[in-house]
Amino acid sequence: MLHGKRILLIVAGGIAAFKSLELIRRLRERGAAVRCVLTGAGARFVTPLSLQALSEDRVYSDMFSLTDESEMGHIQLSRDADLLVVAPATANILARMAAGLADDLAATVLLATDKPVLAAPAMNVRMWTHAATVANVETLKKRGVTFIGPNDGAMACNEHGPGRMSEPEEIVAAIEAMLATEQPLAGKRALVTSGPTREAIDPVRYISNHSSGKQGHAIAAALARLGAEVTLVSGPVAVADPAGVRTIHVDSADQMLAACLAAGVIDVAVCAAAVADWKVTRPAGAKIKKKAGAQPPPLELSPNPDILATLSKPGPRRPALVVGFAAETENLIANAIDKRGRKGCDWIVANDVSPATGTFGGERNTVHLVSAKGVEAWPTLAKDEVAGRLAARIALHLAQPRSAEAAE
Ligand code: C5P
Repeated sequence: MLHGKRILLIVAGGIAAFKSLELIRRLRERGAAVRCVLTGAGARFVTPLSLQALSEDRVYSDMFSLTDESEMGHIQLSRDADLLVVAPATANILARMAAGLADDLAATVLLATDKPVLAAPAMNVRMWTHAATVANVETLKKRGVTFIGPNDGAMACNEHGPGRMSEPEEIVAAIEAMLATEQPLAGKRALVTSGPTREAIDPVRYISNHSSGKQGHAIAAALARLGAEVTLVSGPVAVADPAGVRTIHVDSADQMLAACLAAGVIDVAVCAAAVADWKVTRPAGAKIKKKAGAQPPPLELSPNPDILATLSKPGPRRPALVVGFAAETENLIANAIDKRGRKGCDWIVANDVSPATGTFGGERNTVHLVSAKGVEAWPTLAKDEVAGRLAARIALHLAQPRSAEAAE
């Protein structure tokens, strides 16, 4: 998928540099040409020889080497690339990029380039959350640098939290998305719901669930990358609004439905939100007081509107394709098939959300695609990759003539 694409990979000094070797291998497998710039600190973690062997190109490190500069100046290194990838992007190189320093070959190339830049941060959790790094990342994002990760998890420094460099397959997916030139969904309008809903008990308390919004947001971003005009209706989440997407923030299921109906005529709807099934019938107008010795207050619940079923109703305004999700902890496939029929949607993306799978809030997802054609098992993929695949399938479906669609 990356045939003919030229990637300039800048390897800075972090323990995650070992994953950059795997990244080169995967990029080469997909047909990309990879050329490496290695910083002085990077060379403490991986050798130029390893990078050279995997990239099958020479490795550039020294700004003042007569051979490096005479054969391939820093401007030429950038000119020859379609995309610059900084992996691992350490706190130090991000700070140098934000400050516009040009104190080694890597920083100089990054300052001199007019090509898109992707950064895959990797650092200790406290370095990542330090106000200086937060400000540098913000500055770089404003200047158009794209970020992938970091992921949450255990780190080499025996700490836990965000700071792990994204996995090579996730970085490859981000590179593919950045270099995708085809816009098969141009002119199509998409609606995506994402995240949980909050159902008020009183002004300070609510009923909700563990949905992180990561999968829904990734789908909105993937559809936008393929050229769709995307409206994302999101419940309260910690993930950022995706670039190039119109995001509407809501709290309750009622608000989510109203925002979806206000989105107008759409071609495809993807309902990835974990909508609360019930709301409190009469939320209190003031905080409910706890009284010593009194019984806890009863909570009377009533059903929420079903957004997916509402959007799936036959009629002139029904989208050509409606996709629902089935998050189940048992009888995944049977429940998903049943749900597809009950809701009236075209496809169901079924995923196992038992706590052991780590799907809720995690980075990866194992899904089955249930349509009228049958059940398709997808391998375990990063949520971004699930989103990319689903968006590609949606594009394919919408490109088919109506008669072929009916058969699905
Ligand atoms: O019924 P259940 O919640 O299991 O169905 C899941 C699917 O239905 C998801 O696509 C979810 O976004 C959608 N849904 C909805 N409105 C609801 C409940 C679920 O759109 N009230």
